[in-house]
Amino acid sequence: MSKQWKESAPSNIALIKYMGKGEGGGNVATNPSLSMTLANFRTTVELSLLPEGSDDAWDPLPGSAPLRRESTQRFLDFFQRLKKQESIHQAFLLRSGNNFPSDAGLASSASSFAALTKTAYTAFSELQSKPLASAEKLAMISRTGSGSSCRSFFSPWCVWEGEKIFVPPSKLPELEDVVVVLDAGFKKVSSSQAHTRVKSSPLFAGRTDRSVQRMQESLSALASGDFKRLAEISYAELWDMHSLFHTSTPPFFYFAPETLSVLRFVEDLWEKENWGPISTIDAGPNVHLLIPAGDKEKLLAKLQENLKFTPKYFTSRA
Ligand code: PMV
Repeated sequence: MSKQWKESAPSNIALIKYMGKGEGGGNVATNPSLSMTLANFRTTVELSLLPEGSDDAWDPLPGSAPLRRESTQRFLDFFQRLKKQESIHQAFLLRSGNNFPSDAGLASSASSFAALTKTAYTAFSELQSKPLASAEKLAMISRTGSGSSCRSFFSPWCVWEGEKIFVPPSKLPELEDVVVVLDAGFKKVSSSQAHTRVKSSPLFAGRTDRSVQRMQESLSALASGDFKRLAEISYAELWDMHSLFHTSTPPFFYFAPETLSVLRFVEDLWEKENWGPISTIDAGPNVHLLIPAGDKEKLLAKLQENLKFTPKYFTSRA
């Protein structure tokens, strides 16, 4: 039995979105982002040494779905870059899998790249008898594989601002993410492509200023425990990012018809009851509704009562 290393990392959902990156590689974000970590949605990565002369290879962990060819290649390329950076010459078998269903429509690149970085550096530090790098350092390394993955090293909230990454103070109660799954198919435009294409939008010019302003307001809302204010900021930010998509050349969009019904439901709820969830949508059609853990059942009952269709729901605590 060859030596093995196994680690896992959670996914995260951004309220202030990372959208747009510099040309030079390494995933340098053009704006700061804020996310909540999703402790229940995890990727596990296992590494084992292969005999000398072998090539690195990837396999799904038992019971996990295989990755698409491009995703496997991106994963292996990143791992090989890490090995080169750390002067590691052995060959490895990488196995990975998510604990959330592959048809959940949840992005897995954040948890996958965070888990791969964590497992790789755990293995490298043991093989080289060196101490493991700090979470901040690992996060910045992981960022070069997938930008949003750097935020998965901290919880329950995480701010990523250039080379800085930290947990902002929060007086909010523990929140849960209720994901309303509307379409779990593969995206026509990947988030990597979106980062490039949004630059053609006439709205991109003010994007950094708007997100910096929203970040400051979000940090105050977190610090004072103002849930409603955070919900307002997140809603504005959702439309900001998706408006960039809708006004790019050529325009593109991720919404499914039901996406708008869920947003209308959230608007009505806040208007009629002065109560509701924080809503956000990534580069996909599914709506994330963040709600204090104690209110989750009430929200699910309201959804069931008001939506004219029956979506799947996946939930994760922070
Ligand atoms: O990390 P990437 O390149 O997959 O980009 C993620 C982009 C969004 O999910 C749309 C926003 C975010 O901040 O997570």
